[in-house]
Amino acid sequence: MRIQVITLFPEMFKGVFGSSMLLKAEKLGLIRFDLINLRDFGKGLRRQVDDTPYGGGDGMLLMVDPLFRAVQQAKKVDPTAKVILPTPRGETYAQNHANLLAQEATGLILICPRYEGYDERITEWVDYQFSIGKYVVTGGELPAMIIIDSIVRLLPGVLGGEKSTEIESFQTGDTIEFPQYTRPEEYRGLKVPKVLLSGNHQKVEQWRSKQTRHAL
Ligand code: ADE
Repeated sequence: MRIQVITLFPEMFKGVFGSSMLLKAEKLGLIRFDLINLRDFGKGLRRQVDDTPYGGGDGMLLMVDPLFRAVQQAKKVDPTAKVILPTPRGETYAQNHANLLAQEATGLILICPRYEGYDERITEWVDYQFSIGKYVVTGGELPAMIIIDSIVRLLPGVLGGEKSTEIESFQTGDTIEFPQYTRPEEYRGLKVPKVLLSGNHQKVEQWRSKQTRHAL
């Protein structure tokens, strides 16, 4: 899966793409990351990417032309890629979106808005608009990282233990994984639930399904 990210702050991705599971996935050749600096598509000597909103209002908006040309360049490289725009106005991102994209998309293009927003006309070239929750962060970079992480970990070969994605939270509907414990059996007076030490597989399963919560 080829993942192209359009951003004014490519350096924000270095730590996330260069660590842990995403690094492993890239080293295994399962994914490839390309950072596209939106500034390269800016207007004039100052490479301007933003302008004031029609109708007035505070702040600056990303102009449609630099965004369009950045998306066009990414599409030229990967014509079937799905274009994702993180925005508080989007559909709330959930596990089913991650599952769908991990199974069906061969490439992704993520646009990271900044400033007070973007010219709405860019959405003509967008396949998915996602919100990561009912709060506002400063730009699309953190939401993009969350979306990328949630998809890449589902790609076959990335997590190793394939079962670990099956039993975990949200994978089977709106449920949240049961609590887990490891050694020692007692820590500062806090004990591991007895049933987990019993060796009785059936009892353990019963306990776990009772502990599984439903998301709000
Ligand atoms: N940009 C700013 N806040 C956001 C959110 N909650 N989801 C997606 N993109 C955003």
